[in-house]
Amino acid sequence: MDTETLKREIVRLKKEKNAVILGHYYQREEIQDLSDYIGDSLALAQEAQRCDQDIIVFCGVHFMAETAKILNPSRKVLLPDITASCSLAESCKGEDFAKFKAEHPDHMVISYVNCSAEIKALSDLICTSGNAEKLVRSLPEEQKIIFAPDKNLGGYINSITGRNMLLWDGVCMVHDALHAESVMKLKMQHPDAIVIAHPECNSALLQVSDFVGSTKAMLNYISKSTCKKFIVATETGILYEMRKNNPDKEFLVVPSGSECGCADCSYMKQNTLEKLYSCLLNESPEILLDEETIERAKKPIVRMLDMSKQLGIIK
Ligand code: 13P
Ligand code: SF4
Repeated sequence: MDTETLKREIVRLKKEKNAVILGHYYQREEIQDLSDYIGDSLALAQEAQRCDQDIIVFCGVHFMAETAKILNPSRKVLLPDITASCSLAESCKGEDFAKFKAEHPDHMVISYVNCSAEIKALSDLICTSGNAEKLVRSLPEEQKIIFAPDKNLGGYINSITGRNMLLWDGVCMVHDALHAESVMKLKMQHPDAIVIAHPECNSALLQVSDFVGSTKAMLNYISKSTCKKFIVATETGILYEMRKNNPDKEFLVVPSGSECGCADCSYMKQNTLEKLYSCLLNESPEILLDEETIERAKKPIVRMLDMSKQLGIIK
């Protein structure tokens, strides 16, 4: 099937089956175009909770589709490529984490949403990069906290809040492979540019950045800024939205220290138009979770959404 026919068929099947397509900003451009709702982790979790269609096709990675299933278990949740994982989720396995948690019984567990349902079920509170700082600040100062699985995000929150959260040793393979030296090189060539970075980047890079924020925060920052040039330290999929919203501004991508030299998340790019079509057609692969995991994992996610509303982070 050629690309245009594939796109038409996806739209037709979506209607016929009363499905909704939720897409993360890191998806391929053609998938972003077909998504009914495009957002970052926090916005997509909220949207998944609100969906009333029979089928949710989640164009993102496995932990995101699981979150959608946990928040809206009566819907059929599909993920075009069921093997689309995440280095953060992979770094934190249930058995190891349960042991770590047991070694620190006086600690509350905050997990970044980039983890499996099993880890969420072992957590007291979930956060995203869009609400982590405010959620942590809202907790009593004497509260001891384990933060998992992203040591970069956790370290950044420690540095700006003065906390001393105990960090799990995981990283995002995409953001962690971006280096401060590459940013400095670009900054020397473009002294008029502002450096913006995602908090999953390592601390050396964050220290040479002018603005640190979640995917949505970066988008808002660029739109409001009078500056015309930005050095962007995050996954490249976001540039599609940045350029669409700001056609008069220039975006310079920080080259990655990874093998390909690009800051593409290979997991995010596993979803293709062909897989999206086939998953709608066959209503598979589907996210399936047992009831007990759903019940246990739901509590800290709902707590995050409720606290985010109370703190005015989301509506
Ligand atoms: P956000 O969508 O929360 O900014 O997270 C970025 C990311 O790496 C998603 O996997
Ligand atoms: Fe995971 Fe990083 Fe890919 Fe996001 S960009 S899915 S955190 S590996």
